Amino acid sequence: MTAATLDGRAIAARVRARVAAEARAAGLVPGLTVVVVGEDPASQVYVRNKAKAAAAAGFRAATIALPAETTEAALLAIIARLNADEEVDGILVQLPLPKHIRPEAVIEAIDPAKDVDGFHPVNAGRLAIGRPALVPCTPKGVMTLLAEAGVTLTGARAVVLGRSAIVGRPMAALLTAADATVTLAHSRTRDLAAECRRAEVLVAAVGRAEMVRGDWIAEGATVIDVGINRRPDGRLVGDVAFAEAAERAAWITPVPGGVGPMTIASLLENTLIAAKARRGLA
Ligand code: GUN
Repeated sequence: MTAATLDGRAIAARVRARVAAEARAAGLVPGLTVVVVGEDPASQVYVRNKAKAAAAAGFRAATIALPAETTEAALLAIIARLNADEEVDGILVQLPLPKHIRPEAVIEAIDPAKDVDGFHPVNAGRLAIGRPALVPCTPKGVMTLLAEAGVTLTGARAVVLGRSAIVGRPMAALLTAADATVTLAHSRTRDLAAECRRAEVLVAAVGRAEMVRGDWIAEGATVIDVGINRRPDGRLVGDVAFAEAAERAAWITPVPGGVGPMTIASLLENTLIAAKARRGLA
């Protein structure tokens, strides 16, 4: 089998257009504020892209860029101000933060109703027990890709590789909510390759370049690659050895251009959900 490629850029563009149209139709201008601390170049790019996408969807987008020396107390004071600001529906604090700031203190300071990253323990807990929540953007985007591919999740064997709070754990919860039978595998899993070979849906989110080889993939599987890793030669690759895996999978996401663009599309969806909920519209 040769896999069909899931075009994240095209699917994300459709999601973004739908979100913009929905907001316009409801007469809503959702407000998103993105906060970034320090000069990490990758974070600067992500933050710029998030704010640009929000503005392009007709949202009120603001970026607060703070110096690396910003204290935790100062950042918490800014979050308190954003929590109280009626014009702000979504607050996103870009991670990672400088070492002297505790990310959990910052995440827990955000009003869960404005937590468009879905990282607050209230939202994570709601997702874990199957109640409505603001859901982390990357796994939410993966669910959209799976829906676009027409993959049947009910009863399917799904394997999630990686147990991070941002991707692996919420991914497993979303697949469980969609009635898949989910294995959450990780670095201590015995015989990872054998676990993966059982997967009809495989989501790789480990952050190790091309760790998942072609012979780890079941014939006809759907392979979603969340990894973005830079090879010493500068090439961007995923967690999956793409060419090998594509020989066996039915569907596969490329890197770049697969999951990546979906994250921002999901962020806009979450911001619209938050805006509606805060106005009693949902
Ligand atoms: N850093 C890497 N991914 C993310 C994300 O989804 N949200 C935030 N806030 N920071 C990130």
